[in-house]
Amino acid sequence: MSGTGSYQKNMIKIIMSMKNKIFKTLYRLFVKERVYINNNSNNQNKVIIVTGAGSGIGRAITKVLYAQGGKLVLVGRTKEKLKETAKDFKEDRHLILCVDICSDRGAEDIVAKTIGKYSCVDALVNNAGVYCNKSTVNCSEEDYDEIMDTNVKAVWRLSKETLKIMKNQKSGTILNIGSYISKNSNVSPNKVLYTTSKSAIDGMSKAMNSEVKEYGVRVNCLMPATAKTFFSLDSENYLSPYKVAELVGEMLKYKEIDFREVVIASPKQNI
Ligand SMILES: NC(=O)c1ccc[n+]([C@@H]2O[C@H](COP(=O)([O-])OP(=O)(O)OC[C@H]3O[C@@H](n4cnc5c(N)ncnc54)[C@H](OP(=O)(O)O)[C@@H]3O)[C@@H](O)[C@H]2O)c1
Repeated sequence: MSGTGSYQKNMIKIIMSMKNKIFKTLYRLFVKERVYINNNSNNQNKVIIVTGAGSGIGRAITKVLYAQGGKLVLVGRTKEKLKETAKDFKEDRHLILCVDICSDRGAEDIVAKTIGKYSCVDALVNNAGVYCNKSTVNCSEEDYDEIMDTNVKAVWRLSKETLKIMKNQKSGTILNIGSYISKNSNVSPNKVLYTTSKSAIDGMSKAMNSEVKEYGVRVNCLMPATAKTFFSLDSENYLSPYKVAELVGEMLKYKEIDFREVVIASPKQNI
């Protein structure tokens, strides 16, 4: 009888000592993590501007963010390409802006029209870019200006206009699509201008991030290796634009994480 009594006492002691642990585990699993997951599980209702939304990586990013509940602003120069991207989108969840990001008032127009429709900007994905495949001696001043105007100056201008809104909101994310090439120590020939522009974007993102993080705004750079788009020759070894887009979606979900130097390599590419 006394043996059974001490057994029961011991069991009660063990249960009591485990009570806090059990309670904490149940709380973590069923309350805290659930709230956490709900707060972070999508890009629902976020107003997101994507440049170069009419093709390649930009089209994939736009479609993935729309599927995650975002309200998209599609920017590009060719209306038909933007319309094709948005063909299944609801009217109240997208805005097509046929704008040349290098034009004088391009950045102001994009931000003003976005605010006009949605009253805020949660994220900007600076994706539009051009490529130049020429050796240094064959490059003209026009080639230099085109690549630097599109890949660097337009990114700076649109970021500047968007930051005016984001600083007031005290929140927002700018995600620049750089390139793995800026981290590659063995760049193949004829990519000097492109590499220069993408290295500038990497540096701009880091410096801008330091400048604005105190306002609750993040500026990060995602640097993919070669993807299967119009930009590059199609190869099974290249990244799917949708894989790049999924990572963009993840980076926009987590406001509290400051992503630095995010490189996406393909396991099949020799870089
Ligand atoms: N593909 C790759 O292997 C790869 C790898 C790493 C990084 N990236 C980067 O990813 C981004 C997208 O590349 P992608 O391969 O998807 O290229 P893409 O298919 O050629 O798309 C680029 C988009 O940018 C738009 N665009 C170009 N200049 C513009 C301007 N002045 N104003 C407005 N829109 C403009 C183009 O549309 P319109 O001509 O209709 O304006 C086009 O839809 C680029 O920044 C690129 O550097 C690409």
